[in-house]
Amino acid sequence: MTTVASYIQTDDLVKVYRLGDVEVQALRGLSIKIDQGEVISIVGPSGSGKTTLLNIIGGLTYATAGKSYVAGYDISSSSPAQLGYLRQKIVGHIFQTLNLIPTLTAYENVELPMLAINAPKNERKKRVTMLLDQVGLGLRMNHKPDELSGGEKQRVAIAAALANDPPILIADEPTGDLDTETGARIVEFLLSVNKDMGKTVLIVTHDPQIARQTDRIYRIMDGRIISVQTPGEAEEATVEIRIQMYRDRLTETNDEIAQLQKAYEQQRVTAGTFAERWTNLHLTKDFLEKELNRMGL
Ligand SMILES: Nc1ncnc2c1ncn2[C@@H]1O[C@H](COP(=O)(O)OP(=O)(O)OP(=O)(O)O)[C@@H](O)[C@H]1O
Ligand SMILES: [Mg+2]
Repeated sequence: MTTVASYIQTDDLVKVYRLGDVEVQALRGLSIKIDQGEVISIVGPSGSGKTTLLNIIGGLTYATAGKSYVAGYDISSSSPAQLGYLRQKIVGHIFQTLNLIPTLTAYENVELPMLAINAPKNERKKRVTMLLDQVGLGLRMNHKPDELSGGEKQRVAIAAALANDPPILIADEPTGDLDTETGARIVEFLLSVNKDMGKTVLIVTHDPQIARQTDRIYRIMDGRIISVQTPGEAEEATVEIRIQMYRDRLTETNDEIAQLQKAYEQQRVTAGTFAERWTNLHLTKDFLEKELNRMGL
């Protein structure tokens, strides 16, 4: 039987880090399937394995067990040299730590991946200039990372990841340290890399606003995928949770009203206290019933 893998696919990935006697299970059977041309987000708590997953897909490290396929390559059984090719030509990687060389200018940082594949000088010049223009840094080419703002550094890292025109772009917390507005512009650019350049884009993020702009949201916890949802489904799930909260609160309020009534009959509360609490509880009850009604329930 032949299995045709998705454009990016992992099957039951396991990654164990060993530090002396200590073992950390970063991935515990993680499976994903992403089609060419999709833009997806990966969300999950700190330490859940997001960076580890990107590092495997990006060909920086091998999984301990499981299979992974990227753009038609079975990277779980690729040689280190083949992984090197994957990193240079197939997957553009924007690291959580950016990995810009501090002694090189923005121009030179973007040019570096092209030097590694021996791209001719005129081609390098054309492409680096174009990419820096595209990310709005045409006037900052000769600045070193220290002479750039956080958002500008992030944009240099994106341009460098795109230098060799890879079909896949992976971005690890690309807006992590940025203010909302700068972050929004970075995301807008990454989305245009997907829509206008047709690249498959994976974004790791903590920000629900960003996740909701992608085709699908992968939720990862303790090294496993716990849900895959479209933004619409994620929104629906949030509504479900709110409905359940309203229902629970309504049951509690009805119980409190019954108890208050009983306490009053048994003369355990004064008429004044009873009237005040009765009014408040009924206001709450009315509000909850109206909200549930409004949601068609
Ligand atoms: N090189 C390493 N050696 C040992 N343990 C590691 C290594 N890299 C990551 N880990 C551990 O593996 C687990 C997953 O780490 P990972 O960096 O993938 O998480 P993450 O989801 O990216 O977290 P964050 O949101 O904080 O970036 C963590 O418990 C981490 O401590
Ligand atoms: Mg991380």
